[in-house]
Amino acid sequence: MLTQLQTEQLKIEYLQPLEKVKGLERSLGQDIKEGLTQCQKKIPSKYFYDDHGSQLFEQICELPEYYPTRTEASILRDYAEEIAQITGICELVELGSGSSTKTRLLLDAYDQQNEVFKYMPIDVSAGILRESAIQLKQDYSSLQIQGLVGTYDQALTQLIPSSWPARMIFFLGSSVGNFSETDYENFLSKIAQVLERGDYFLLGIDLQKPKAIIEAAYNDSQGVTANFNLNMLEHLNREFQGNFDVNFFKHKAIYNEKKQQIEMYLISDKAQEITLKQLDLKVELKKDERILTEISRKFDVETTKHLLAAKKLNPVKVFTDKNNWFALILCQASQ
Ligand code: AVI
Repeated sequence: MLTQLQTEQLKIEYLQPLEKVKGLERSLGQDIKEGLTQCQKKIPSKYFYDDHGSQLFEQICELPEYYPTRTEASILRDYAEEIAQITGICELVELGSGSSTKTRLLLDAYDQQNEVFKYMPIDVSAGILRESAIQLKQDYSSLQIQGLVGTYDQALTQLIPSSWPARMIFFLGSSVGNFSETDYENFLSKIAQVLERGDYFLLGIDLQKPKAIIEAAYNDSQGVTANFNLNMLEHLNREFQGNFDVNFFKHKAIYNEKKQQIEMYLISDKAQEITLKQLDLKVELKKDERILTEISRKFDVETTKHLLAAKKLNPVKVFTDKNNWFALILCQASQ
């Protein structure tokens, strides 16, 4: 149980839906319609994350083959203190905070340096956000928490200027790898717009490495990633009155060396017709036809540094692990 004072220092607020922001109106499921009527059929990755999907993702992070989470945590363990020393007191804003497990490594470092500090976790799942915020408030007494429920886009269009000496937005887990190249560039531009001169941005990126290591991470031996991928179909069934039968689909993740990205597919086991009643949509699938559900791009440090600098997010320091599998790039806004 939190005390009255602790409760006052913990706020959870809902961000405005983007549909309400002028010019961004789109009807629900429009993205599904567009994706499933293209030559290369696609389902946007955001449909992974219903409650069950979020739980499966937490399980993925623990898998022996899925190296990104462990590796990024090891970098934070080694360098969080140095990051906190470089930025000094600041408001910490985390995009896609989830259960905030890795974040604790950063919070520990800031806790040791400052008497009071502020953390703004942003996540689409109100449940996970509330639960982890309560837990954090119990563990870090001087921490002020303002959780925001919503997507990155919502957050980046609605964040108001900080009253703290500086702000650091951080985006961990190489989630930026799930964006297309265009979305990635637009995202960095938005970050640069939101930050004021002197503020910080900490970006986690998964680095290029041998194909076998990457493919094993996305085709794990326990089949958790396969369930995560297939669960998306159950989510669509529920949301849009669909009739996908998961028994007639297989998961496969393939590393595209030319594009330097993992591509996750759901492959139709037979010729079948799918109906999504609520979207008034019928989709014909051929036997062995693939639906693309996710790309996960793998980066190299130099190209990423150049792009960040071009966006006026000047790289201050790059932190990496002993194998050079993952990197955290700390940048400072220069405009
Ligand atoms: C959330 N994101 C960074 C994960 C990734 O590795 O691209 C999602 C994931 N998909 C399959 N496994 C994990």
